[in-house]
Amino acid sequence: MNPSIGVCYYPEHWLEEWWDNDARRMAEIGIRIVRIGEFAWSRLEPAPGQLQLGWIIRAMDVLGRHGLKVIVGTPTATPPRWMIDKHPDMLAMDREGRRKGFGSRRHYDFSHLGYREECARITHILAEALADHPALAGWQTDNEYGCHGTTYSYSPAARDGFRLWLQHKYQTIEALNRAWGNVFWSMEYSSFEQIDLPNLLVCEAAPAHELDFRRYSSDQVAAFNKVQFDILKAKRPDLPVIHNFMSRYAEFDHYDVAETLDIASWDSYPIGHLATSNEPDEIKRHYLRQGDPDNAAFHHDLYRAVGHGRWWIMEQQPGPVNWGAFNPDPLPGMARLWAWEAFAHGAEVVSYFRWRQAPFAQEQMHAGLLRPDSEPAPGYHEAEQVARELAETGLEGKALQGSIALIYDYQSEWAWEIQPQAAGFRHGDHVRALYSAFRKHGLDVDILPPSTSNFAGYDIVAIPALLFWTDALREAVANFEGHVLIGPRTGSKTENFAIPAKLGPDLPQNLLDARVMRVDSLPAGVDVAVKGGGAARLWREKTEGGAEVIMEDVEGVPVLLSQGKLFYLTASGDRALIQRVADYLLAEADTSILTLPAGVRCRRRGKFRIYVNYSSGPQTIALAADETGYVLGDTEMAPAGISVAKLARAD
Ligand code: GAL
Repeated sequence: MNPSIGVCYYPEHWLEEWWDNDARRMAEIGIRIVRIGEFAWSRLEPAPGQLQLGWIIRAMDVLGRHGLKVIVGTPTATPPRWMIDKHPDMLAMDREGRRKGFGSRRHYDFSHLGYREECARITHILAEALADHPALAGWQTDNEYGCHGTTYSYSPAARDGFRLWLQHKYQTIEALNRAWGNVFWSMEYSSFEQIDLPNLLVCEAAPAHELDFRRYSSDQVAAFNKVQFDILKAKRPDLPVIHNFMSRYAEFDHYDVAETLDIASWDSYPIGHLATSNEPDEIKRHYLRQGDPDNAAFHHDLYRAVGHGRWWIMEQQPGPVNWGAFNPDPLPGMARLWAWEAFAHGAEVVSYFRWRQAPFAQEQMHAGLLRPDSEPAPGYHEAEQVARELAETGLEGKALQGSIALIYDYQSEWAWEIQPQAAGFRHGDHVRALYSAFRKHGLDVDILPPSTSNFAGYDIVAIPALLFWTDALREAVANFEGHVLIGPRTGSKTENFAIPAKLGPDLPQNLLDARVMRVDSLPAGVDVAVKGGGAARLWREKTEGGAEVIMEDVEGVPVLLSQGKLFYLTASGDRALIQRVADYLLAEADTSILTLPAGVRCRRRGKFRIYVNYSSGPQTIALAADETGYVLGDTEMAPAGISVAKLARAD
């Protein structure tokens, strides 16, 4: 399928007489894909066992008549009210032990096996009824697993599941006691039945206890998804099963969940995501109407990895959203730019959320492509323009392999949340800081999972703040011929959340002769300048060993060490330090870079390099040495502008 645009549609929100006109207008502006159904359980099954599937089939008929293809979402993120009467204990419990209530969405517990069966039942019913519909193009499982903080539940169902999971993992209680270090504070257990969830304790749980609970909870999300995947694939093996993930959300391991998906997708709301992020205020102000110029791209690259190369945007911000403290109107052109940027990073489909703004309920202030009075909102025209431009440029092919690889790991996100040691020390922040530093030079960056065993084709591989090494990853680093940047904190623990016998970064001496002897953790505002520029902040390591010192701070503490092509960064840095380190590596690796104006970013896909201008002013780019000319736009980029350059040769 050529790259296409789509839209999220809720036929159950509108009079049936409107559907035909809606579908006609969608097709007219170049929409090809329509996602429906993901919250419609109360209309599909108004009372237990009383199915009403006629309307969804008629909606698919109407959409299909206009040449539109449909993604049907399973409605399991919104169990209807009667379900709570049937399974009162399916509501998740928060960390304080309180049951959550009905009246919004995602009110279920991943560990509740009765609810999982209900989900299997409705999925099966939908598969039977809709699988052979000619308009059907694929399925979406549930909606945004974990949204609104719903991955973890501290319920009896979760406790029972956790005990079984632990028994399966450790086999004997002695092995668990050893792994968690339970001799400490007399925390030893004599049976698995004695183990509780790591909440409501007097003070913190053992970090391995907490980490295992997160691993368990993540496995429940994967198991939940697998149930639906198996049913849908059994019925139509040829149709893709997709899930829509989120921005900066790491409570479960997405690589694991995607083991039972054909395509990963994510929901991109750049302005809301910047507003709710921990980016500095100055960035928030600067990109108020555009969103962070690297955050959407980072997730495009992440979900390309999660989806094993296949990924979509299932929900694209079309205008102001409703869920930020403030919800600015995007700069004119951003709904076009965001879509183009996603396509540049390899998206197969970019689907706008939503067709028509709903005049009722929670999201009545959230823009759609149409206003509530059915007149076009600005996003409507921008979506139409994207569809036209996709056809005109003939964009196709894959996102090309980048020169930089960055490892992103969910367990490392959990670990440093459990034990930050310096408040605010996050795995993802380290990965994203490096991502931006490399991407500012026009380089294509790939995000890879920690299970990667071969780095062939990359100039530089970076592995910051990784919890522990697997043998395969250590070996991949040892065999890689390019440059490697690791640390800070990488390899500072074992899989069981203990300090490794040889101390971090736990690499063999022939790879890196350095050991972390002590950690200095600093509050915000207490930075230590690094000689030559930039500063260490939050986290400094004091090392010993024979590795060469490349940079040191003003107190003489080594900041960047090297041994051959392997580099070790001992500190968390401010932007200036991270940029210096990235630039140093690029020079060492002799990687050719582009010079881009502020706010301009780019990526290569197929035969093209696509430039996007996130700045609020015009910018001028130059034709790069490997480009022959522009098929869209040119060197002068308007605010929110796009330029698409043709590559001399696509590798
Ligand atoms: C997403 C969600 C949608 C809608 C949207 C609003 O998180 O999947 O259902 O709520 O946000 O921006």
